[in-house]
Amino acid sequence: MAKFETQVGIVGAGPAGLMLSHLLDQHGIASIVLEAKARAYCEERVRAGVLEHTSVSMLRDAGVAERLDREGLRHEGIDLGLHCRLHRIPFVELTGKAVTVYGQQEVVKDLISRRLSDGGDLRFECGEVSLHDLDGSRPKIRVEKQGNVDTICCEYIAGCDGFHGVSRPSFPQGALTVYDRTYPFAWLGILAEAPPSREELIYMHHQRGFALYSMRSPRITRLYLQCKPDEDLAEWSDDRVWSELHARLGCLDGWRPAEGKILQKGVTGMRSFVVEPLQFCRLFLAGDAAHIVPPTGAKGMNLALADVHYLAEALQSRYRENDARKLDAYSATCLRRIWKAQRFSWWMTSLLHLFDDASPFDRKRQVAELEYVMSSRAAATALAENYVGLPLA
Ligand code: FAD
Ligand code: DHB
Repeated sequence: MAKFETQVGIVGAGPAGLMLSHLLDQHGIASIVLEAKARAYCEERVRAGVLEHTSVSMLRDAGVAERLDREGLRHEGIDLGLHCRLHRIPFVELTGKAVTVYGQQEVVKDLISRRLSDGGDLRFECGEVSLHDLDGSRPKIRVEKQGNVDTICCEYIAGCDGFHGVSRPSFPQGALTVYDRTYPFAWLGILAEAPPSREELIYMHHQRGFALYSMRSPRITRLYLQCKPDEDLAEWSDDRVWSELHARLGCLDGWRPAEGKILQKGVTGMRSFVVEPLQFCRLFLAGDAAHIVPPTGAKGMNLALADVHYLAEALQSRYRENDARKLDAYSATCLRRIWKAQRFSWWMTSLLHLFDDASPFDRKRQVAELEYVMSSRAAATALAENYVGLPLA
């Protein structure tokens, strides 16, 4: 049984927990990061792939963008597809900003490597975590592993442990209001060993269901198909996946996605979820621990990074100037931006997917909305400014 002391105890080594630990270190604030999984697992988990302009700036300002700047793929727009016809939304022309395709696991690798070379205290495969004395001045994290119990006495705790973590359930009953919405579909995603055959992403509305063409690197493509929430992967042979991708993504100009060996297949559920507030006494939630977006707007990892940007700033004011005002405002500050990203993710999802219960009126309205975004500079600009990331201020 050992006792440790730190200023900020961080639960979870995803993008939120790692970036927070790094930003705090840059301001001379100590932290301990507790992660349930092994380092290799965290570094290999394939998830999000698009970094907003806002996130890239944040990673650059924090000095952790060296590999991102070398290997990240700058995308200056996306294609929206309707009935096999593509229409480009030119982000740079409309907003002056671009996005960068760089896998979440690459961001995680970069942050872990930087924290370790800076002497950071990251504890992988930490064991069972529980949170205690949250309403006192010294909240504690208890970590139990094979009968051994460590106690980490903190001044603040950051719950960065994702949707299934322990931090959100540690709020007292009744302290949180939950806003939740599920969608009647999911995404079947594949990672394929095939060089991208287009330079930019395609978001395709198709009568067989939504499809997304994306990529990870000059060797790897990432593709998604709208599917049932309970889709059985066993029914999706590689041949069936490719034939469905060709059917939905094939364009009138003859373009088809290039095939390659399928390296990974998975089904991702779709939901919109927010809890309010993000704070209980000295416990603060950040990232997926507090909110989930459907992936259509590529906002999940970006929102997690934005939350910890605000949290690190607030803790810095608290420690440097003994000013707790930003910390007290953390929840409200984050929620304003979170709800805008929720709205955008819901809107992109509604715009592009097929809804089984849509009436003929709904379908006509949906197509009209897509045609409007494809034909109006104002509507395209609204999409673009949300996609590249709303400002943090
Ligand atoms: P996470 O990355 O979930 O990190 C939380 C960490 O906490 C994990 O490492 C976890 O192991 C750890 N943890 C959990 N419980 C405990 C505990 N009790 N004790 C200690 N550690 C704990 N977003 C997109 O924008 N585009 C996508 O294509 C996309 N695809 C996704 C696919 C999947 C399968 C999933 C699950 C998410 C996807 N997302 C996507 C969302 C995006 O990946 C998340 O928004 C992002 O990971 C949030 O980062 P985070 O740090 O808040 O949480
Ligand atoms: C990817 C995922 C998304 O949700 C998205 O909107 C764009 C790209 C991806 O995994 O590459």
